[in-house]
Amino acid sequence: MDIIEKVKSIINGYYTEQFDKIYLPEDIVKDVFVILASNSTVIEQFCVLHNESFDHIMFQCIVEHSPRICSVRQYLAINNIKQLDLCRDYILKNKDSHFFQGVALLSSINLELMPELVSFTLFDDRFAIILEYDDNGGFYLTKNRDVLIACRKWLSVDIIDKLDLETSFLQEPLMMSADMMSEVSYVLCSHDHMDNESCCWYHSVWQYLRLMNMVSTPSWHHDFYISNLKASLQKIPYPKILISGAADYSSLSYVVRVMELLKKDGHYDVLDLCESPLFACKWYAKRKNIPLCTKKMSIFDLNSCEEYDLICTDAFLTRFPKEQISSILSIWYKALKEYGYVVTTVRIYDDKHQCPETPSNADIATFSNKAYKRSKIWEKVINYSAEEIAKKAGVYASKMKSNKIGTREDIISAFINSGFELCCVEDVEVAGELYPSRYLRIRAQKGR
Ligand SMILES: C[S@@+](CC[C@H](N)C(=O)[O-])C[C@H]1O[C@@H](n2cnc3c(N)ncnc32)[C@H](O)[C@@H]1O
Repeated sequence: MDIIEKVKSIINGYYTEQFDKIYLPEDIVKDVFVILASNSTVIEQFCVLHNESFDHIMFQCIVEHSPRICSVRQYLAINNIKQLDLCRDYILKNKDSHFFQGVALLSSINLELMPELVSFTLFDDRFAIILEYDDNGGFYLTKNRDVLIACRKWLSVDIIDKLDLETSFLQEPLMMSADMMSEVSYVLCSHDHMDNESCCWYHSVWQYLRLMNMVSTPSWHHDFYISNLKASLQKIPYPKILISGAADYSSLSYVVRVMELLKKDGHYDVLDLCESPLFACKWYAKRKNIPLCTKKMSIFDLNSCEEYDLICTDAFLTRFPKEQISSILSIWYKALKEYGYVVTTVRIYDDKHQCPETPSNADIATFSNKAYKRSKIWEKVINYSAEEIAKKAGVYASKMKSNKIGTREDIISAFINSGFELCCVEDVEVAGELYPSRYLRIRAQKGR
C-alpha cells in the first residue's frame, strides 16, 4: 500500500496495524496535510523558525491548505530579533488569513521542563505531522499518545499576540553575535581565575550554550531582574551603573532594557578579567547607542569610591572561594554611592543542594548530549556542527567550577556583615547547568 493510501485508511479507521511513526517523503507532506486537514476541525501548528525564511513546506501548507471551516492556530517559535522582524513581515503578508497567528519566544521558555523541541502540526489532537531534527531528520505522521501530549504541552506555552510583538521582546540578539563571540574569543581571551592559560573554553562556547538555554544567565531570573532593577533605578536622574563581571552582554541588556522602560539615560561601566565579554558589551552598547566604558581588570583591583548607583551581576560570587566573598562585598560597598544597590543572584549550597566538586564523566556526557540534541536546531545557522558544539559543551562541563560559598543564611550574613541592608531576598529552584540548583536572588542597599 502506498503511503497516501495508508494515511487514508488510518483516518478512516480501516488500518488496524500499530504504528509509531510513518515517515513522509517531503514531496507528499502537502498531500498528507490536505487529507488530514479535510478530516479535522481544529488544526494547530507550532513551527520553529530555524533559518531566515518562511519557504518551509509546513508554513505553506497551513496558509494554503487549511479549510476555512476549521479553527486554525499557528505559533511561530523564534529566538532572536532578526526572526522577529521576519515574523512581523510574514504575519502582515498573511493578514487576511482566517486564522490566529502568534509568536513563542524560545528564550523565555524553561526548556528543561519541556518535551523535546520539534516543529509539528496537530490535527484534532488525534494525529500529528512532526518534523524532527535528529539524525534521521524529516517528517513523520504519528498518533502516538505521548507525542500528542508533548505537542499539546508546546501549544500551551506563553504566546505573544501579533499586536504585542514589539513591546514584549527582550531577548538579546544572540544569534547575531554567537558566531562572532566564538571567533573573537580565540584572539581576545586571556586568563581567568581558574585557567592561567586562557578562558577560551568558556567564552567561545558561552553564547551557543545560552542559545540552547543550558547555562545560568539573568533570563533564568527574568521577573526578579526587571522589577528589582526598576526599583533600584527609578528615583535616580542619571544613574551610573557597574556590571561587575559578565560572560557577555546579558546582564547589560537587562539593565539597558529597564532604563528604556524607565525612559532614562545613564552611564554604564562593565568590568571583567577578560577582554572577550567586554568586547561583547561594546558590540551591544554600539547597537543600543549607549555610553559604555570597559574595565579589563580583576574585581580585586577595583578602587572606586562612592561612584555607582547600581552594581549588577549574575551568578558572579560563586566564581570565588568562600573566603574571598567578604572582600568582594566590601569592594562593592565602597564603590557604591550612599543608598546604592547591588542586584545579583547567588547559587546556594545546602544539605539538599549538593553537587560533586568535579562532575562525573557520565554527567559531562549527559550535558554534552543535551547540547548535541539542542544544537541540531541551530546548526544550519551557526558556524559549528552539533558534534562540534557537543564537544565544546563537554569541555565546558568538565572545566567549569562553581564554588560552594554557603547556605541561604551564610550568604545573607555575608551581605549584612559587609554593611548591606537586604531589600529583596528570593530563594528559587532552577534547572541548573549540570544539576538542578537553588539560587538566592538579592537586592541589597548600602546604608548611610
Ligand atoms: C559573571 S560570571 C557568570 C556569568 C553570568 N551568569 C552571566 O550571565 O554573564 C562570569 C565572568 O566572571 C569573570 N570573572 C571571573 N573572575 C573575575 C575576577 N576576579 N574579576 C573580574 N571578573 C572575573 C569571568 O571572566 C567571566 O566572564
